[in-house]
Amino acid sequence: MALVRIPEQNRTIVDRDAVADLLATVGIQYEVWTPEHPTSPDAPAEEILKAYSEEIERLKQSGGYVTADVINVNAQTPNLDAMLAKFSREHWHDEDEVRFIIHGRGLFHIHPKDAPVMAIEVEAGDLIRVPRGTLHWFDLCSDRQIRAIRLFQDPAGWTPRYTDSGVDSRFQPVCFGANV
Ligand SMILES: [Fe+2]
Repeated sequence: MALVRIPEQNRTIVDRDAVADLLATVGIQYEVWTPEHPTSPDAPAEEILKAYSEEIERLKQSGGYVTADVINVNAQTPNLDAMLAKFSREHWHDEDEVRFIIHGRGLFHIHPKDAPVMAIEVEAGDLIRVPRGTLHWFDLCSDRQIRAIRLFQDPAGWTPRYTDSGVDSRFQPVCFGANV
């Protein structure tokens, strides 16, 4: 389950409802999903998408998403460092960033307009929707692996647009959860 830290306030929020309520105040949708039937995190993508088809359909209808896929990133991924470097600087997209975590962990930093930067550690079972235009950046945790369902309105819109603000450099890309 997700964990949220607000470094500037030295606060950590772990309660599921408190996390969802807090993230909602800055426009981030957070849910915990359970599969229709038990599914191995290593199952083929089609099986994963089927196991969560109800939630995916609901989200597609509410957000206008037209496609869903499954992405795998791990230490064996070619050019992993170059890929991660694209997302670890503050950016936004013309497209919502919607991720449901199947396996592994990751760290989103969200930089709201009128609130302090929040670090959200996500793990298996977590759904996060970062609306288009939201300033954010993303890092893997130290195990450097994540498998996630992605939903898109238009995959072409999911290109990072950098702010070059340097804000990201003020925050440590370090996870604090159980399996850091
Ligand atoms: Fe992004």
